[in-house]
Amino acid sequence: MKSALTIIRDEHRTISAVLHALKDLARAAQEPGARPAFAALRAMVRYIDEFPEKLHHPKEDDLLARLVARAPEHRTLIEKLKAEHVEGARLVRELERALLFFEESWPAGAREFLAAVTEYAEFHWTHMRKEERDLLPLAERHLQPEDWEAIDNAFAGNTDPLESIKERDFDSLLGRIANLAPAPVGLGNPWKKAN
Ligand SMILES: [Fe+2]
Ligand SMILES: [Fe+2]
Repeated sequence: MKSALTIIRDEHRTISAVLHALKDLARAAQEPGARPAFAALRAMVRYIDEFPEKLHHPKEDDLLARLVARAPEHRTLIEKLKAEHVEGARLVRELERALLFFEESWPAGAREFLAAVTEYAEFHWTHMRKEERDLLPLAERHLQPEDWEAIDNAFAGNTDPLESIKERDFDSLLGRIANLAPAPVGLGNPWKKAN
């Protein structure tokens, strides 16, 4: 069974990979002439909206709640990270709006979309770095064996049968992204230049 900390770090790698792929595609979409792979862009935005929201942040919020009980002197950092989960959800809404406008008005909207992607990606990378640098070492230091037992069980999905179904859904969405996104980001065909 993977430990909670390994799961959080693995999920950061996955979120980060999707953010890199999204940024690469948003950059490529600045080129005039080729219609961007909107299905891939939509799948990526859906992933970074739903995965952190439904699966990743609830796990971290559980850890944050236990940590504040064990180490209240770190409340400021903990509250900041919780607030960033809320702010991240707001930035994703901006990203969705920018993508909708881009798809409906293409070729207009490319620059705004790239700006929204860049803002969200920078925000989330900074957030994840803070968690890995500041939060996870604190959790390792302060949480007790009974905390880890409860967290590891919850993370492994042992206490919530719905959890494993959600994990599978996201795995298949990741597969879809890989198939839809053009090379070199994914396995799909390179975008064709419009005649
Ligand atoms: Fe987080
Ligand atoms: Fe995180």
